[in-house]
Amino acid sequence: MKGLVVYHTKYGHGKIIVEAIARGLEEAGHQVTVTDAGARDIGGDFDFVVVDSPTRMGRMMGPARRFIKQELSDPSWKGKPFIAVGTGFRPKGTAGKFDEFGARSAEQVYETLEKQGLKPLMEPQKFFVEEMKGPLEDGEESRALELGRSAGQELSAASTS
Ligand SMILES: Cc1cc2nc3c(=O)[nH]c(=O)nc-3n(C[C@H](O)[C@H](O)[C@H](O)COP(=O)(O)O)c2cc1C
Repeated sequence: MKGLVVYHTKYGHGKIIVEAIARGLEEAGHQVTVTDAGARDIGGDFDFVVVDSPTRMGRMMGPARRFIKQELSDPSWKGKPFIAVGTGFRPKGTAGKFDEFGARSAEQVYETLEKQGLKPLMEPQKFFVEEMKGPLEDGEESRALELGRSAGQELSAASTS
């Protein structure tokens, strides 16, 4: 299948995450285009989309929201699978404790895409930095690669069933 992977990033961590997801999707046999959320007139006939935004004050950022509204509103996107990704801050050593508060952009990307009629492939996916502006927590890049691989397998299974 052909996938569009879109990110907005301030400090570069989102790009690392989506590129790892894209590698996993490719390993699973998909063809993937990675693009910044500032891009317009994407064209191409895609079968699924991955959208990532950093979190700012509990919210997704404008460029990601605008990309969804402007580029993914075409009726041809309706019913197509998406993966919503958000990056955010979680104080070191708190993994699993306050995760509902961090990386809330993941939920907002999810809700915005779902409202536009796309179909979630999975729950919102959160990735964490250990200080406000990074770096990524250890293991987040490999977790993203693994996510790409498993999502890729799921997409393949769904398209042949
Ligand atoms: C001013 C500011 C506000 C932030 N607010 C939040 C927040 O409310 N929740 C959160 O999880 N992370 C927050 N962060 C952390 C960012 O989400 C983090 O820098 C970003 O996800 C890193 O991704 P990027 O390198 O792709 O920009 C904030 C960071 C800054 C600089």
